[in-house]
Amino acid sequence: MENKLKLHVEDLTVSFRTNQGMVRAVRGIDFDLYEGETLAIVGESGSGKSVSSRTIMGILAANGVIDKGQIIYEGQDLTEVDEEHFHEVRGNKIGMIFQDPMSSLNPIMRIGRQITEGMILNGKRLKNKTKKLYQLEKNNYTEIKHKIEKLHRVYKHNLALIEDCLYNENLQSLLEKQNSLEQQLEIAKSNPEAKAGIKQELNGIKKQIKSIQSDLKSKLAVEHKKNVSEQKVKLPPLKAEMIKAKRKAEAQIKQEWIAKKKEYQEKIQKVKENPESQAKLDEEIKVKEAELDVLNNQMNELIENFQEAFSKSVRDKDKIILRARFRENKKDLKFDIKEKQREIKALQNYTATKIRELKEELRRFKKVTNLEAKEHAIKIMSEVGIPQPEKRFKQYPFQFSGGMRQRIVIAIALTANPDILICDEPTTALDVTIQAQILELINNLKKERNLSVIFITHDLGVVANMADRIAVMYAGKIVEIGTVEEIFYQPKHPYTWALLSSMPDIMSKERLTAIPGTPPNMLFPPKGDAFAERNQYAMKIDFEIEPPMFKITDTHYAATWLLHKDAPKVEMPEVVKNRIERMLKTTEGVTKNG
Ligand SMILES: Nc1ncnc2c1ncn2[C@@H]1O[C@H](COP(=O)(O)OP(=O)(O)OP(=O)(O)O)[C@@H](O)[C@H]1O
Ligand SMILES: [Mg+2]
Repeated sequence: MENKLKLHVEDLTVSFRTNQGMVRAVRGIDFDLYEGETLAIVGESGSGKSVSSRTIMGILAANGVIDKGQIIYEGQDLTEVDEEHFHEVRGNKIGMIFQDPMSSLNPIMRIGRQITEGMILNGKRLKNKTKKLYQLEKNNYTEIKHKIEKLHRVYKHNLALIEDCLYNENLQSLLEKQNSLEQQLEIAKSNPEAKAGIKQELNGIKKQIKSIQSDLKSKLAVEHKKNVSEQKVKLPPLKAEMIKAKRKAEAQIKQEWIAKKKEYQEKIQKVKENPESQAKLDEEIKVKEAELDVLNNQMNELIENFQEAFSKSVRDKDKIILRARFRENKKDLKFDIKEKQREIKALQNYTATKIRELKEELRRFKKVTNLEAKEHAIKIMSEVGIPQPEKRFKQYPFQFSGGMRQRIVIAIALTANPDILICDEPTTALDVTIQAQILELINNLKKERNLSVIFITHDLGVVANMADRIAVMYAGKIVEIGTVEEIFYQPKHPYTWALLSSMPDIMSKERLTAIPGTPPNMLFPPKGDAFAERNQYAMKIDFEIEPPMFKITDTHYAATWLLHKDAPKVEMPEVVKNRIERMLKTTEGVTKNG
């Protein structure tokens, strides 16, 4: 692929601390995302799709930790940055939409404000310009600060692991021993002699655990202190440099702003001194008034036509429809009339209007104004296919259908002009026709805005028409990745075969074959290939050693021992082959580029 790399994810490993232990949700995933492509992530429920994308977004749940790995975006490793600074670092360049649009909308705030809020908040132009001027010095400083913060985070995390006996295998096996002795003690209740023996052994184990824990903790503390002070000494000179650069930037921007203000004061003065010729204005007003007359006539006609049709219609249902349609049309016309009246008024108060416009122009140098944000919001609303955006701007979320709400959420994500859009099952809550419309919208936006899309779904049928490449996830790992063609025509991993054969098949009466068995419990991830238990082709090695990613082509990789040169030759099952053929036939003609 010759396209530009947008996002590089390497060995990303995420777990959650829970009462029962560590849930290993994402276990070392690698992938690249290129400019303008859609990468689909497919897998059963619980395979780690959402956790992966939430980690990239920096919105991991509070009990989650990134154990290892990198997320490189524009030369920076996002895993080094804590959540508080996360948004600052990547700006709003990564947008995300979720399954349930309602969860990302505020039900009691008008749609318009929800779209413009971020624009206004992030639209302090002079401030942003100043920041850019000393960005480099600031980055040098914050990079070290982030490193120190990460050291603290990792240190705290490791302390918790030691405390929970999850830090290393040694502690883990001692903990297991302790648990089993406690159980034995319970059983030996009525046997004092045995009890005493077990108790003694148990105390020994507990002591051993305590001493290992305190050893590890002090070792860790020493190491941590050393690491932190190594970084800390770098801070003062970097801070001084940053402050110097900041002052310089502020002075420069202040100069620019003063000059701009002066320029506009002069412009305003000129308007005051040389008013537009009255004759010319009168001419323009006349034209507008004639246009207003036309609109007023249209309104009268609309009312007459409605009254006539209404009196003629007999059925209640017809009357209701007529009245509803009439109200809609009347509202639109009223809007146009008001607009025209405003234009006429502006011409009548020409000088005042002109001055107001100049002042607005000046304000726009400083920040995104309310008016500007509204104009932009309405533009984006029509871009995402919301009819009558001016009217919709003032409405509340409950006045929108599910599909329209998802469009609003997409519009909000677009206001920041992101270059990556993560869609986590964005159409699962919608019915089929609406689903197709939203998918088409995402596809069009991708093309027009050259977005890179990560599209998460459990529905392979959707993926065929959406994605350029597919990553198949199982038990927190990517088990196969390739182009759409490779995954559909040449799948290599038995799990991918299972996924393909569990796809709903509209053409045949064949029953949907659910994948037998259940995914492993991620508190205790299996030793070898996590899919071995459910894999009818599993070999002995599958239960013992994790398969590496075998390369099939430059773009196609799969982690299954079946690809080892000494493995028996196993072909994809016939039923899967047939099913894929039928599936591709039914979706033919609806290709991702057409
Ligand atoms: N906050 C949390 N605390 C503990 N475990 C969690 C937490 N969030 C997710 N998990 C676990 O992480 C694993 C991966 O979950 P994830 O939400 O990424 O699955 P998914 O692939 O998105 O599934 P679905 O298709 O159901 O959305 C699951 O085992 C889940 O139970
Ligand atoms: Mg999910």
